Amino acid sequence: MYSTILPELMSITVFILTLLCLQAGHTSTYMPNYSILSLNTTGLKDAYLTSTQADLPIHDVYNLYMMTTCSGYWSNNSSPPLEDVTCSPVSWYSKFSPSSLLLNDLQTHHSPTNLTSLSFPQGIQDAFDQRFNLQLHVAFIFYVIALFWLGIVILWGLITCWWGVLGSFAVLFVSSASTSLLIASAITTAVQSQAVALINDEGGAIGLQAGYNGRFLALTWSAFAVNSLSGLVWGVAGFCSGLVRGSEF
Ligand SMILES: *[C@@H]1O[C@H](CO)[C@@H](O)[C@H](O)[C@H]1NC(C)=O
Ligand SMILES: *[C@@H]1O[C@H](CO)[C@@H](O)[C@H](O)[C@H]1NC(C)=O
Ligand SMILES: *[C@@H]1O[C@H](CO)[C@@H](O)[C@H](O)[C@H]1NC(C)=O
Ligand SMILES: *[C@@H]1O[C@H](CO)[C@@H](O)[C@H](O)[C@H]1NC(C)=O
Repeated sequence: MYSTILPELMSITVFILTLLCLQAGHTSTYMPNYSILSLNTTGLKDAYLTSTQADLPIHDVYNLYMMTTCSGYWSNNSSPPLEDVTCSPVSWYSKFSPSSLLLNDLQTHHSPTNLTSLSFPQGIQDAFDQRFNLQLHVAFIFYVIALFWLGIVILWGLITCWWGVLGSFAVLFVSSASTSLLIASAITTAVQSQAVALINDEGGAIGLQAGYNGRFLALTWSAFAVNSLSGLVWGVAGFCSGLVRGSEF
């Protein structure tokens, strides 16, 4: 009976870590540093200021999260933390759209400047429209599938407190969760590095800079790692309680 407590706690931990991957950025103050990528427009704004002697009324930073996009301003000349952060509504299919974000800011401030005059590279927007947003949505779906299997594992774990031997069945559900987490993490990792490289490649000339810290990756990969480990522990727990029960009769 007690042998299921450890794997049960591990599965609950994985459930929470997976949930956090999806929940980061839901509000301006909720896990702001766990973005998938961050677009820094300081260079573009500086270049605009130098050439026109006027401020470019766009945000300094646009952060992409699993379910939202948040934009904010550096509190001190291009240094963290961000202030005046606003986040898009939480969405099941959150689309990162740099050109609409910039255009929206320009129009809100009635700026005569447009994306053409900024020579904003269309290739960046196209890449998000054509693949990155869709790929992240697929990752999102796999996170949800992982949450579903983890929920089953956790419920199953509660039941197996009474019938320890059934614990070994949990391994099946844990494996499904592991596969989903592996796919989701692999996709977000790939999109993160490809999107950042593309933005820096195509946008570097006009002063756009993209980057990421390792926190989102640490979160998603540790969910996968703990889950894989828990599969092992679930297996051992089911096996041991089976032995104990076997010798009782
Ligand atoms: C996010 O990271 C920045 C530095 O990179 C730090 O100043 C800030 O306190 C962090 N915010 C949170 C909520 O951890
Ligand atoms: C933002 O970009 C500017 C210029 O491209 C750079 O100097 C600055 O260090 C960047 N800020 C951060 C926090 O990466
Ligand atoms: C901004 O920087 C100045 C000095 O460069 C410092 O005195 C001030 O406290 C900083 N403000 C914030 C909000 O960090
Ligand atoms: C963008 O601005 C330039 C000059 O600032 C103007 O010539 C051009 O017509 C504008 N394009 C659109 C689509 O408004």
